[in-house]
Amino acid sequence: MKMKMIQKLSAVAAVAVAATVGALLSTASVQAAEHEPEMEHIDWSFNGPFGTFDRSQLRRGYKVYKEVCSTCHSMNYVHFRNLGETGGPEFSAPEVKALAAGYQVQDGPDQAGDMFERPGEGKDTFPAPYANEEAAAASLGAAPPDLSLIAKAREGGPDYIHALLTSYTEAPAGMKMPAGGHYNPMFVAGSGVIAMPPPLADGQVDYEDGTANTLDQMSKDVSAFLMWTAEPKLEQRHRLGFQVLIYLLALAGILFFATRKVWSDQH
Ligand code: HEC
Repeated sequence: MKMKMIQKLSAVAAVAVAATVGALLSTASVQAAEHEPEMEHIDWSFNGPFGTFDRSQLRRGYKVYKEVCSTCHSMNYVHFRNLGETGGPEFSAPEVKALAAGYQVQDGPDQAGDMFERPGEGKDTFPAPYANEEAAAASLGAAPPDLSLIAKAREGGPDYIHALLTSYTEAPAGMKMPAGGHYNPMFVAGSGVIAMPPPLADGQVDYEDGTANTLDQMSKDVSAFLMWTAEPKLEQRHRLGFQVLIYLLALAGILFFATRKVWSDQH
């Protein structure tokens, strides 16, 4: 009788451990299964339940956004101060101040009721390159989406952004291209025709940390950066998941030994 109960309760403890480990493994496999089949799966530093961002990569990615993408795309949900927060590119306070001041933002109204421009501060968001979607679409052929959350809004996330940026090619023979259209087989939403001209080419952005500025590398860096803007708390979330895991394992262990102790005392 006693042995049976111990066996039963040990089984409960074993199930708890298995469930914990299973939950951990399934998050990893769900992440893998989400991607489109033909997309290159990149071994991002932030992948998996313990992944973290690569600070240098986020800084390079920011540079690519700033020098290239920001001429067309807004990033309305990112504040300059976010660039200095833990878990992101972690620029120092003076660096954040200087890079914010490099932008002119609209403020006001002043006492006379007029809007005015002033240098950016940490509390400001990135100023948008176009006044509104219509203006952007009129000049570019289609409205470029806001990039703050794009890595979460597209299947494949950063793998998709990287694939999109590196997959421009000649249109297949016989395909009629509309004016201002560019062929990119990754852009399934537009059947391969996209209004965005190829934004990046080898050597385009100067890197200060010695990393080779190839098309592939710059595309990876800006995709990682956009993953951070879409999920700035990713590292905290991973850390919390790890703590919960340790807690559950400890609980399973206590349960197991407590069960044995309780039942071994009864004769
Ligand atoms: C010359 C302007 C221009 C530049 C520069 C530019 N884009 Fe775009 N982008 C667009 C336009 C326009 C669209 C909308 C395309 C469409 O709907 O056909 C777009 C769409 C996108 C999309 C969405 C694709 C989808 O699945 O809907 C992503 C992601 C993107 N751009 C990323 C970037 C990144 C990253 C950079 C910088 C490396 C960049 N873009 C630079 C104009 C630009």
